Order: sequence, then structure tokens, then C-alpha cells
Amino acid sequence: MKVLLLGATGNLGIRLIPALLSHNLTVVAFVRSSAKLSSMLPSAILSEITIVEGDAKSSDLIKKAILDNDCDAVVNTAGLAALLPWKSSELPAIFAAVVQAAKEAGAQQKKALRVWFLAGLGLLDMPGTKSMLVDYLPVYREHRPNFVLLQTIPTDVIRWSILCPSVMNPRSSELVVPVKGTQKLIMSATVPPHWKDSWMRRIPLVGPFIVLAKNVSQYSTDLEDNAEVIANDLEHGDDEWVGKKVGVWKRA
Ligand SMILES: NC(=O)c1ccc[n+]([C@@H]2O[C@H](COP(=O)([O-])OP(=O)(O)OC[C@H]3O[C@@H](n4cnc5c(N)ncnc54)[C@H](OP(=O)(O)O)[C@@H]3O)[C@@H](O)[C@H]2O)c1
Repeated sequence: MKVLLLGATGNLGIRLIPALLSHNLTVVAFVRSSAKLSSMLPSAILSEITIVEGDAKSSDLIKKAILDNDCDAVVNTAGLAALLPWKSSELPAIFAAVVQAAKEAGAQQKKALRVWFLAGLGLLDMPGTKSMLVDYLPVYREHRPNFVLLQTIPTDVIRWSILCPSVMNPRSSELVVPVKGTQKLIMSATVPPHWKDSWMRRIPLVGPFIVLAKNVSQYSTDLEDNAEVIANDLEHGDDEWVGKKVGVWKRA
């Protein structure tokens, strides 16, 4: 399988390169600067990948990269959501461009592309409610309209999933090739895995916020483990996470 990886110079993107390669996937890295990416990679890894330069806000360039390289899958890690509700970033424009490109390229290739998007923990639902966590803690709110857009796309048009990690930390500054089969994260659809509910949720007004605050610190994960989750899924080509927002929790 050939994978177009956007944001390959970023924290997650750079770790996805060895992860994807170790799962026998072919990597086409889409970056603003090939010189920057080249300076970040050892030559042994660099020689294994194709690099395409472009701005990820351009759906035409992304579509061309998919079609020119005959990609079957896309992973979008480009763009970083704004933390505060009154700030904005390029992420919504990038997200929309990737959706558009995947739709058009899939139609041209006559097969739906497999696409992983990134969001944050706040996009997941508070277990036992119909509200998203971001309704209680309004940070990284740009992920919500991105998800609303994705929900308008049938999964026979784009086989999409959206990964919703909390803070991701580097386990190592070195580019470590993960050992296949050592998945350290528990995954779940729609709600965070291993959520600890409490009677306090029913306290008027502040209850859900208290439960959220008690839970949130347990959702930090390692960047390398998130990269492994995506690479492993793409290698196996399962439908388990297609059309879903996906939470992750680090196995103790
Ligand atoms: N890091 C976390 O703890 C965390 C937690 C939850 C969710 N997320 C989400 O996960 C995603 C990846 O996070 P990250 O920490 O890897 O982000 P990051 O380190 O900031 O990387 C962002 C990447 O996007 C690229 N980019 C930005 N604008 C672009 C454009 N117009 N065209 C092409 N490339 C562009 C950057 O390229 P340049 O090198 O050219 O700038 C960089 O490679 C983000 O969407 C973030 O919101 C992150």
C-alpha cells in the first residue's frame, strides 16, 4: 500500500515515516520543504521514501500527489489546531483541502482512499452523555467543524477515521523504528477508552467538568505509539475504525 503522508516534518509525521516503513508500506511525504525533511532523516530512511513539495491548503496539489504516486491511503498530520477558542490556525483549510483531494482522487481512481485524520481528545463524547468533551472544556475547538465536515462524507467515498489523542509526548528524540506487534495503546470508538465515571457527573453545572478534570491527565500518550496505531491499521486494511472517531489510552 502506498501512503501519502502530510506533515512529515511534524512531531507525529516524522515518527510516522519509520512506523509506516516498518509495516511494509510505501511512503510519499508531502512537505513544504524537502530540504527541512531531508535534514531530519537519516540517509537510510531518506532513501526509502518519495518527497513531494507543496502547501497542504491546496487540494489540487494533494490530489496530484495522490494520483501521480498512485496512493491508496493518506495520513494527514499537517496543521496544528489553535489552543484557544478566539485563535485560529490553518488546520481547517488544510483539513478541507485533504478531504476534497481524497474525494476527487478516489473518484478518479475508482476506489475510495483510506484516510486517517488527526483531532484531539475533546472531539470524543463524554461517556453517558451526548456531548463532546470540548463542550465542557473549550480548547482546540477547530477539530469540531473538521469532524462535522467529515461526517458529510460517506465511507464509500473516503474510508476515513479520525484519531483523537490527548497530549502526545516524544518517547525518544531518535527516530526509533517500532517493533511490529507491540501496540501499546488501547483504542475505542466515539468515547475515550477506560473513562472513569463518577456520581459527581450529576452535580448541576460543574459535575461533568469535575469528572473531565479527574480523567484528562490519564490520556497522555507517546507519539511513537500513535504512529504505530495508524501504521498497523493501514497494513492490515481492516474496516474496524472506518467512519469513526478513535480514542487512545496507554496500556499500563
Ligand atoms: N502534539 C500533540 O500533543 C497533539 C495532541 C493531539 C492532537 N494533535 C494534532 O495532531 C496533529 C499533528 O500534531 P503535531 O504535534 O505533529 O504537529 P506539528 O509538530 O506542529 O506538525 C505540523 C506539521 O504540519 C505541517 N504544516 C503546517 N502547515 C502546513 C501547510 N500549509 N502545508 C504543508 N504542511 C504544513 C508542518 O510543516 P512545516 O515543518 O513546514 O512547518 C508540520 O510538519 C495536529 O493536527 C495536532 O492538532 C497533536
